[in-house]
Amino acid sequence: MQTLAQHLSSQGIQAPLAQLLTTLADTSKAISHAVRHGALAGVLGATEQENVQGETQKKLDVITNDMLKEALTADSTVRGLASEEEDHIVEVGQSGDFLVCFDPLDGSSNIDINSLVGTIFSVLPAPQGELSEQSFLQPGRQQVAAGYVLYGPSTMLALTTGQGVQLFTLNPETNEYLLTNEAMSISKDTAEFAINMSNQRFWEAPMQTYIADLLLGKIGPREKSFNMRWIAAMVGDVHRVLSRGGLFTYPTDNKNPEKPYKLRLMYEANPMSFLVEQAGGKASTGYETIMDIQPSEIHQRVAVILGSANEVDACLEYHGQDYSEEPSL
Ligand code: AHG
Ligand code: MN
Ligand code: MN
Repeated sequence: MQTLAQHLSSQGIQAPLAQLLTTLADTSKAISHAVRHGALAGVLGATEQENVQGETQKKLDVITNDMLKEALTADSTVRGLASEEEDHIVEVGQSGDFLVCFDPLDGSSNIDINSLVGTIFSVLPAPQGELSEQSFLQPGRQQVAAGYVLYGPSTMLALTTGQGVQLFTLNPETNEYLLTNEAMSISKDTAEFAINMSNQRFWEAPMQTYIADLLLGKIGPREKSFNMRWIAAMVGDVHRVLSRGGLFTYPTDNKNPEKPYKLRLMYEANPMSFLVEQAGGKASTGYETIMDIQPSEIHQRVAVILGSANEVDACLEYHGQDYSEEPSL
């Protein structure tokens, strides 16, 4: 089995990007170690702080953010970073080639129940000149690499540099990432969907109707039965979609009119969309392709519908229809 270093070299990845991806992978090994020690290391539970988005930070949100920030700050290829847990962008060096956006710990609500969590990252080219928030506001299409690390029963790294999606498994004996799937591929069709059903009454009409039709199974217009899964960590749900197909969505809702979307464009939606597209799937908001969105601010949130291409298309058909005459469900 190839190591990560051997794989990057065989793909012809240039030295600066290989260095950065190695930094991210090495840091994820340390995060995996901290997560695995859980209560023994005193890393469970919440802090008294909130992040810029008004969410209470878990201890592990802060610890993992600090670990990534420290490692990336010491990496000469990094010009700047943006994190879900940082209020503002952080300027790192004067000459690095890359900007890194990350969600240091995805699935924070799973930490205290010893369930799936992960890290998501996105690498963008650093523009010339002064660094500002504006430098980061590039469509996802510009990403040069993206990936996630899943701290599950085994620790896995899914990575794309635009040449498909490769999956590595951390060997606990050698602490080395080994290539265990060289081409992740999302089936075009699926009979599995992932959505937080408790928000049903707050969705827009197209999503209400689409999910209602899935739930009707064989007796509905889709004429087949669907199964449902929800891990409450995007990283886990997207990993399942990459492994065996499926549709994952966190759609628009009007539960809190000031916050119609949950997932963050720069730290979650864009990197996951890059992986999904590279594995043959699709990623949309319902109205536009996620990776084509021109970001307006670094902490921006978006609706996300991604996964098996034919199922995403089926969902998008509902979004193209006029619901103005229909009674709400
Ligand atoms: P984070 O832990 O980084 O804040 O992200 C959690 C996100 C995402 O991972 C997951 O799909 C979703 O929030 C879960 O939301 P609900 O708690 O509403 O199910
Ligand atoms: Mn997250
Ligand atoms: Mn997070």
